[in-house]
Order: sequence, then C-alpha cells, then structure tokens
Amino acid sequence: MIDKKAHIITVSNEKGGTGKSTISMHISILLMQEGFKTAVVDMDGRQGTLSNYINNRCAFGRQNGINLIVPQLITVTPRENTAEYANHISEIKMAIGELAKSYDAIIIDTPGTKNYLFELAHQLADTLITPISDSFIDLNVLGTIDEANPKKQQAGQYAQFVWEIKKYLAQQGKPLLNWIVVGNKISPFNSRNKNLFFEHLQKISKMYGFRVAGNLRDRTIYKEMFPQGLTVLDLNTKDLKSKMTMSHLAAKQEIKSLAEFICPQR
Ligand SMILES: Nc1ncnc2c1ncn2[C@@H]1O[C@H](COP(=O)(O)OP(=O)(O)O)[C@@H](O)[C@H]1O
Ligand SMILES: [Mg+2]
Repeated sequence: MIDKKAHIITVSNEKGGTGKSTISMHISILLMQEGFKTAVVDMDGRQGTLSNYINNRCAFGRQNGINLIVPQLITVTPRENTAEYANHISEIKMAIGELAKSYDAIIIDTPGTKNYLFELAHQLADTLITPISDSFIDLNVLGTIDEANPKKQQAGQYAQFVWEIKKYLAQQGKPLLNWIVVGNKISPFNSRNKNLFFEHLQKISKMYGFRVAGNLRDRTIYKEMFPQGLTVLDLNTKDLKSKMTMSHLAAKQEIKSLAEFICPQR
C-alpha cells in the first residue's frame, strides 16, 4: 500500500479519443493554479499525447519568455515482454509512491486499451474520471438498457471492469472509488439523441455507481492549443491575456465546474 498524502485522479475510458489527455492536462493546470503541488503520469506513453502536450508547453514558454507553470511529468511506456510486467509494476508503484509523499495531487492519464498499465492506473485511483461523448456507441462501454424493457440492463465491458476494480480496492481496505463520468465534446444544441443519451446515462449511473458531472462542450479551442501546450486556463497569464475570447472564458468555467464536482473541498 502506498504511504501517501496525494489524491490520485485517474482519467480513463476503454475507448480512444474521448478526451482523456485533454482533461488530464486541464485539470492538472487548474490544480496547480490553485496552489496544489501536482504531478502527472502519462500511462499512455506509447502514444504520448499528454507528455507531448507538456513538452510543447515547456518549449512555448521558453521561446516566448513566458513563465508557465508545468506539472512534474512521468511517462510510462508498456513493456513488450509479459515476463517484465511484474517488475515494471513494482517500479511504477515505487515511483508514484515517492511522488505521493510530497505532492497534493497526481493525475494519471491512461491508454484507451486494456493492458497491465491500464489496470494499474485504476488500482491506484482515489477518483476515476471517465470522459464520454454523447454517442450510444460510447455509452455501450458503460451499459445498455433495453428500450422495450427498461428493467433489463446489461453492464458494458468497462463498467464490469470498474466493478472488479472496486472489489479489489475494497479487499485492500481502501475507501470506495469516487467514479465520475463527464460528457465531453457535447454539442450546444438540443437533439433527441442528446436528450435520450443523458437520460440513459443517468439511469445507468445508479446501476453501476458513478456520478455524472456537467458537460464539456465541443469547442475548437480545445484542439487549437496543443501545439503551444496551452490550456483554456492559461489565458489570464500575463502576455497571453490579449488572446482571450468569450469562448475561452466559457470553457474555463466548464473546467472549473468539473474540478469543483471532482473535489469540492479541495
Ligand atoms: N471538449 C472538446 N472539444 C473539442 N475537441 C476536443 C474536446 N476534448 C478533446 N478534444 C479533441 O478530441 C481529440 C481526442 O482528445 P484526446 O484528449 O487526445 O482523447 P484521448 O486521450 O481520450 O484519446 C483531440 O483532437 C482533442 O483536441
Ligand atoms: Mg490520450
């Protein structure tokens, strides 16, 4: 068991492209702005999106003489050889255990596919954030409800996996995993699909034990800022203020609301 003070937030979904790395980056910068000592662990080191995001940030700050806050980064790449998994897991636990003694928060970004790092990221979590788009294909990883017979439900693969993780954590004597699902890349317009989707998500949430946070909208700015390593939270920073728009302000508010939902008493 890790002897720690840090709160570990794992951002995961058994699906690629739902916004895990984008949300990991934004939450880490927000927590740092609030004065929390924050580290990030990129467990999707093969793709390396979060690591590249942070490296871009360092380069942008250096090139433009701007002093940007940057979280401590550990990049983890899966080993090819299954015989190395156990040692690798011990090494990662030790590295995160060391960080956890002196940091307030550790954000773990995960790959969208199940492997031993994916499982470890969940086993270490205090809070689990699952971004999901408003598509019934995405909802399927959490669970399905038969429209004709709403009582007939079936847990999706990822919900089953989280259930197993919850059982594992209970066996370890750890507190209940705080699981939060957040709609991401959500259109501002009302549609039948969107309303039905969130109705189903609410129903499923009670069955599988997660809470649903307020949505993050589909906004071009989330896509634009990766090359500079910036987030919607940086635009208050001296020298960047002039680039702030209403859309940035609204996005910033969404991220703050999400953080408030994740840890209200932080
Ligand atoms: N709220 C959003 N609005 C618009 N684009 C988004 C939003 N969140 C993420 N994206 C974009 O979606 C793509 C996938 O995001 P990413 O964070 O890499 O997902 P994952 O880590 O789950 O694979 C990226 O192009 C990213 O810029
Ligand atoms: Mg990613």
